[in-house]
Amino acid sequence: MEQDKSALAAALALQCDWGADEALMESPADRLAVRDAPARAPEAARPEPEPAPRPIRAAPVALAAAPPALARAQALAESAPDLAALKAAIAAFDGSPLKETATNLVFGEGVADSGLMLIGEAPGADEDRAGRPFVGASGQLLDRMFASVGLSRESNFYITNILPWRPPGNRTPTDAEVALFLPFLRRQVALVRPKRLVLVGGVAAKGLIGGKEGITRLRGRWHEVEIPGLGRIPALPTLHPVYLLRSPASKRDAWADLLLLRRALDQAPG
Ligand code: URA
Repeated sequence: MEQDKSALAAALALQCDWGADEALMESPADRLAVRDAPARAPEAARPEPEPAPRPIRAAPVALAAAPPALARAQALAESAPDLAALKAAIAAFDGSPLKETATNLVFGEGVADSGLMLIGEAPGADEDRAGRPFVGASGQLLDRMFASVGLSRESNFYITNILPWRPPGNRTPTDAEVALFLPFLRRQVALVRPKRLVLVGGVAAKGLIGGKEGITRLRGRWHEVEIPGLGRIPALPTLHPVYLLRSPASKRDAWADLLLLRRALDQAPG
């Protein structure tokens, strides 16, 4: 009986991890009726439109509202004079449904005036619970990797993510979500004023460098990223620890990236 209960609890937890608790609307939508309806009813026969059900949970389609939300994000980000104000501005920003499904805002942490800033993708379940970046299994691997070249968030770098809210079910952030939160991230970089960035994973690399190249082509060399108010900053893309947990053979490439970083820090004046 006990065993049955724990099997059921495990199955339920798995469903939640996959996002099965993410209802999209307050009332169910009859998608078959929508599909079967004529594309456009004649003007006279068209009934008064029902008020649209209010989306209460995360859904990429809700990003149709992105342009005004993006302008609000830009204005809020630009008016934040320091990191505390920026964190409050992100918490107050209601332009993304990700906020509705996440538990905690995950901002940045570490040594803001260290000259080095790491940028990851988005919080996972552990980070969402703790309200801190990179604290789950992949974060622990990241800490060990950076410790192997003498770097830690306690002493040597500041760490944050492109998205401050966990995407439901840990799905990959959409391009629209990344674009919406980029003004906040860029402002965060401008306030931290790092001399170097490490872009952890393809989402962070593509979000800040742009272009079509994937992380395996971008990694292994320094790029430059333009940050408004700060100028061009050297940025090193590297493989995400989540990927390394699945593909341990790629740790060799990640190690090469870490050595590139170490060399740049050692050669930096003062
Ligand atoms: N993956 C990320 O990109 N960021 C986190 O904070 C945790 C996992």
